Amino acid sequence: MQSFELLSRKFALYFDKEHFPGEPATLYRPNDYFLKMGGKRIRPVLCLMGNELFDEIREDAWPLASAIELFHNFTLIHDDIMDKAPLRRGMETVHAKYGENTAILAGDVMLVAAYEYLNKVDSGILPSLLTLFNQTAREVCEGQQWDMDFEKRENVTIPEYIRMIELKTSVLLAASLKLGAIMGGAGERNQNLIYEFGRKLGIAFQVQDDYLDAFGDPEKFGKQVGGDILANKKTFLLIHALETAAPAAKQALQEQLAGHAPDKVEKVLQIFRDCKVNEWALQLQDRYLDEAMQHLEDVAVLSKRKEPLKELAQFLVKRDH
Ligand code: IPE
Ligand code: IPE
Ligand code: MG
Ligand code: MG
Ligand code: MG
Repeated sequence: MQSFELLSRKFALYFDKEHFPGEPATLYRPNDYFLKMGGKRIRPVLCLMGNELFDEIREDAWPLASAIELFHNFTLIHDDIMDKAPLRRGMETVHAKYGENTAILAGDVMLVAAYEYLNKVDSGILPSLLTLFNQTAREVCEGQQWDMDFEKRENVTIPEYIRMIELKTSVLLAASLKLGAIMGGAGERNQNLIYEFGRKLGIAFQVQDDYLDAFGDPEKFGKQVGGDILANKKTFLLIHALETAAPAAKQALQEQLAGHAPDKVEKVLQIFRDCKVNEWALQLQDRYLDEAMQHLEDVAVLSKRKEPLKELAQFLVKRDH
């Protein structure tokens, strides 16, 4: 069994090449730029690990993993437009550097490239992979729409938030594992267990993302800290603060949400701290991480084979970037 570090190094060797043609450079260079910024490459490695949990990594698991990473990068380029984000992976976002219209098209063509990689998978197995891939892609779109709809809504509940992050984030982590497991010849029960592991882990992962968006170290995080606050994102931080703040603090918070004061981020962060959102974050993460681990325990393979996934799960929720 190979560790996350080893598999990400191998994936980088396979993936770090030209994915796009030369012309028009105005379309393809932005995509090169974005892919070269790197990123943690979690999803392709999850796919490879899902495969290796059950059998040796197949040759065509590499293009499958590449399809997943390209799909993820496509969602990020469009997400940064929707979230008006200036920074990602410590660099200017595609739309900030090249303009929104180019970023839309660059994202579109990145999605096409993802399907071109999918098409390199053995045709005997491809239909079952495609069904899951497409369902996941559709769910990510649904989650992203809920995310935007919630910006405009005053009352969003924790269960609604969980459902939204499950769609926009978790399902892709879960599908990456399950796609790999299908490649590894896993039976249906094991496929479903590994999917559930990824789904719960993905929730804990997005909770950490939302926490870092508010409290991350700007040097390490690579994204604009406070971006979610500026966009009135209904993260668990905000929902929890609205639910638990004393009346005066709650009113102050609602006033901040209604406006664009220059010190909005600072003011909202102080209310978050007063409401002890960090404790709530840990509680939420522990709950979902525990449930995730239980599903992994239930997967019917030797427990030694699960070590890399266990380690990765810990990293994903403790990460600082
Ligand atoms: C960012 O995902 C988008 C979320 C779903 C939170 P990652 O944190 O995996 O982004 P990169 O690929 O490592 O930059
Ligand atoms: C993004 O969630 C999820 C997708 C890209 C589908 P966020 O908007 O929180 O991700 P970041 O923080 O910009 O990476
Ligand atoms: Mg975003
Ligand atoms: Mg977003
Ligand atoms: Mg975020």
